[in-house]
Amino acid sequence: TKKAFIFDLDGVIVDTAKYHFLAWKKLANGIGVDFTHEQNEQLKGVSRIKSLEKILAWGNKTISEAEFTRLMGLKNEDYLTYIDTMDEQEILPDVTKTLDFLRAAEQHIALGSASKNARMILEKVNILSKFDVIVDGNDVTKAKPDPEVFLKSAEQLQVAPKDCIVFEDAVAGIQAANAAGMVSIGIGDKVTLHKADFVFAGFQEMDAEFLNNLITSTK
Ligand code: BG6
Ligand code: MG
Repeated sequence: TKKAFIFDLDGVIVDTAKYHFLAWKKLANGIGVDFTHEQNEQLKGVSRIKSLEKILAWGNKTISEAEFTRLMGLKNEDYLTYIDTMDEQEILPDVTKTLDFLRAAEQHIALGSASKNARMILEKVNILSKFDVIVDGNDVTKAKPDPEVFLKSAEQLQVAPKDCIVFEDAVAGIQAANAAGMVSIGIGDKVTLHKADFVFAGFQEMDAEFLNNLITSTK
């Protein structure tokens, strides 16, 4: 049977955390709230709404619903000015190589991202066409760690969850993959991502033998 390989976007395919940081920091500072790199780490994989809720909670701020919506719009507008500068150079090491390897092995390839900007970013870095299916923040109602985004990808590809392999950089994403009954592969730090079935610092650490084993093994 063909397997489905589901890629998270932010932190797996491209390092957009640095742009989220700049946009959230500007927004937070603008309303008199501090925003640090450590806090930005805690927003990885977290939806836009949840991110703003956390920032407001850290700053002990309460605002109206209308103001909340306005601030989310402002943050995204600012974020998109950074996204606009992106090109192929920003694809993380060996991501394209891995996508091409899986494609050549006739595996299914999906994107499973919390971002509402996912398609635009894939277009900017010119790899949109490498994905069979894209499920992003516009398609889900429940954010990671809920498995909805990955289960929808599996459903669209008509692949059983146990035959899906998820690449994720965020703790919430690994939890979502595990909850979906999929194989979880952490991209990043071994300690932070210890709940994953496997962890690699990046795709450059994964060899063909490892990928072939994922293709042929059963969970
Ligand atoms: C996730 C990012 O992939 O998408 C989060 O890790 C981000 O930092 C979330 O908040 C939502 O993204 P966007 O682009 O819709 O604001
Ligand atoms: Mg991510």
